[in-house]
Amino acid sequence: MAHHFNNYIAGEWVPAKSGKTVENRNPADNDDLVGVFPESGVDDLNEAVAAARSAYARWRKVPAPVRALKIQRAGELMRERKEEISRQMTREMGKVMAETRGDTQEGIDTAFYMAGEGRRLFGVTTPVELPSKFGMAVRRPVGVAGLITPWNFPMAIPTWKVFPALVAGNAVVIKPATYTPATVCDLGLILEEAGVPPGVFNVVCGSGSTVGEAILGHPGVDVISFTGSSAVGRRINEVGGKNLKRVSLELGGKNAQIVLADADLELALEGVLWGAYGTTGQRCTATSRLILENKVHDKFVKMLIDAAARLKLGPGLDESVQVGPLVSASQRETVHSYVEVGRKEGAELALGGEFYVEGESKKGYFYKPTVFLGVKAAMRIAREEIFGPVLSVLKVKDADEAIDVLNDSSYGLSSSIYTRDVNLAFKAIEDIEAGITYVNGPTIGAEVHLPFGGVKDTGNGHREGSFTAFDVFTEWKSVYVDYSGRLQRAQIDVGA
Ligand code: UN1
Repeated sequence: MAHHFNNYIAGEWVPAKSGKTVENRNPADNDDLVGVFPESGVDDLNEAVAAARSAYARWRKVPAPVRALKIQRAGELMRERKEEISRQMTREMGKVMAETRGDTQEGIDTAFYMAGEGRRLFGVTTPVELPSKFGMAVRRPVGVAGLITPWNFPMAIPTWKVFPALVAGNAVVIKPATYTPATVCDLGLILEEAGVPPGVFNVVCGSGSTVGEAILGHPGVDVISFTGSSAVGRRINEVGGKNLKRVSLELGGKNAQIVLADADLELALEGVLWGAYGTTGQRCTATSRLILENKVHDKFVKMLIDAAARLKLGPGLDESVQVGPLVSASQRETVHSYVEVGRKEGAELALGGEFYVEGESKKGYFYKPTVFLGVKAAMRIAREEIFGPVLSVLKVKDADEAIDVLNDSSYGLSSSIYTRDVNLAFKAIEDIEAGITYVNGPTIGAEVHLPFGGVKDTGNGHREGSFTAFDVFTEWKSVYVDYSGRLQRAQIDVGA
């Protein structure tokens, strides 16, 4: 019997009002039915927003350290259930167990970090210009947060948004990605068990075109946070902008790793293998361009191709596997279409470029690790986000050109440089246009307590995680307390 999941609205687990459902299958094995999920409509979303609005009125009055205790409890429950959450996540999303454990751990780390923030949520106190008067600015919740989350980090990304939103006193309606709703339903069970009151956290499963769109236009939603493609992000910003909603967008990337001639090449190789083929390339932070200094180009390319050809593909539940499937048939078609684009543009396909269909893998959406050589910065495979195991290699003459090529992108999420020269490393930190720069580490692997996000088309200036999450999920209120007992006029009654 397939596991039937429900929406979580006003503290109840309920099917879609229409009764419609949709199946989700394991991308490594089409015979494995992960679950049956509600295919919700606008009426389900409306009910969830109404529940959130009424719960918000009480939740915002709960002291922040008490709200935070619920999140701490959620973190403890996640830690207890880490293995089962991660196994289910591998079944629904495909990435290997080591990575789904990491994804769950990112949620646990966020829970404990954000629980601590419940006792900070720092505001500002400041001297004011008039005597016997006090000035401060405090953070207040925004209201109801509408969260739309992607499938590549089914636990980490929802928790980056949900936990700071709740600690700050907002109520939440989340629409999980259609490929990975099970993990977010688990999060709902955990928050319920942790004692988050009914209606404060609501899950509505369904499509972006129906449930996602309804969130954008809903007058009861005050802030929208979305992670996904730049195309959808633009649309969200347009609709949200029209309705004067606060919108936080975390969008695409075309992240590059630079390897300079003086680098530790073995280390740089490990970095690019992990950055480009970890999560089968399906991270916003994935390394999709490799920029090699001329002097080490040929040697490094040989090392890369030898090593990438040896990566073990297969179902993520097999602990010896390094690269799992792509999330869906259509994702695999998209990746493959880019390989055709690269060929036509005149890049040299040096590895992969085809489906992996050996034995049981026919039942999944596997794609061989792929390397293109001779890529030019103007080619589409050097400019567009592919979201798959496809690496474009570009050759440059020196560090300056490497940074120019890296910056020649409409995106600016993550970046990496391998060099032993501290001067060049700091120059790169200064000149690279990206929200994240790693020195001697791959482009993936951000930790939860530093701001996460990017420049240019990667977003609209917000940062997730860390203390910066509260810039999205709180409003400032400035407060003046005049204890002089008389009218004091600012800018007028100010003595010399
Ligand atoms: C993403 O791909 O959207 O930095 C998130 C990383 C992970 C998060 C990635 N901690 O690679």
